[in-house]
Amino acid sequence: MGDELVVQNLNKTFYVDGKPLSVLEGINLTVSDGEFVAIVGHSGCGKSTLLKIIAGLESPDADGVVTLHGREIAKPGPERGMIFQEHRLMPWLTLEKNITIGLDDKTRREKMELASEYLRLVKLEGFEKAYPAQLSGGMSQRAAIARALVTGPEMLLLDEPFGALDALTKIEMQKEIIKIREEKKTTMLMVTHDIEEAVFLADRIVVLSNRPGRVRDIVTIALSDKRNRGAADFAWYKKKVYDYFFEPEEDAGPEFAI
Ligand SMILES: Nc1ncnc2c1ncn2[C@@H]1O[C@H](COP(=O)(O)OP(=O)(O)OP(=O)(O)O)[C@@H](O)[C@H]1O
Ligand SMILES: [Mg+2]
Repeated sequence: MGDELVVQNLNKTFYVDGKPLSVLEGINLTVSDGEFVAIVGHSGCGKSTLLKIIAGLESPDADGVVTLHGREIAKPGPERGMIFQEHRLMPWLTLEKNITIGLDDKTRREKMELASEYLRLVKLEGFEKAYPAQLSGGMSQRAAIARALVTGPEMLLLDEPFGALDALTKIEMQKEIIKIREEKKTTMLMVTHDIEEAVFLADRIVVLSNRPGRVRDIVTIALSDKRNRGAADFAWYKKKVYDYFFEPEEDAGPEFAI
């Protein structure tokens, strides 16, 4: 596997009323083709900002470099799909139109076919003509996933996509993400507050410090049975990541023996 995404010495400072606010500090991270990397950290530590920089929606401070397959990221591109904390569907457009809105080079027929294909992928077949207000929260998030996938991105950037869903719907959505990953081989970078979700889905978990967000640790998840939430090693990884949030930040991290 090659390094698809390389983040090197990334810093981000916002200016609020002329005063600098350091949000991300010295972030180094590589993500391989086809890998699933989760990012966890306290609210306000810069997780969404990091994803937006990778999406090309925000720029890093001058010294940092973010490249995708060797090319510097300067703006959004079809090879990177972004799913935001809220679904951001346009209420006045049908799902079919919401999903294909960015596909200017396609004919109407091609757009309809693509909309059907991707709505089927997220189990929303038959909802082509529905409006966002006619959907449940989980269905809206599934539609947002379809919209992000329709351009055929190499990489999906997911910003707490299931944060607002009930526990059972969330578990269903996690299983769907796994299926989509198997089918499309998409590289995934997901921000989540849910440590169990991170252990369930990710190959590696990046633990960020409080603002300014720095990488405290990157935990590689090597589970005997990835899908078994009841397994002892699953619980061990959950605790390992969970404990970072209750340890002083100066600490290099908790010590565990399996
Ligand atoms: N455009 C902006 N201008 C100024 N400050 C900003 C801007 N965007 C974000 N911030 C600040 O940067 C910090 C990090 O914000 P960010 O949205 O990245 O946090 P987060 O880790 O995603 O939090 P949450 O878990 O609550 O979503 C916050 O203090 C926020 O106020
Ligand atoms: Mg956020």
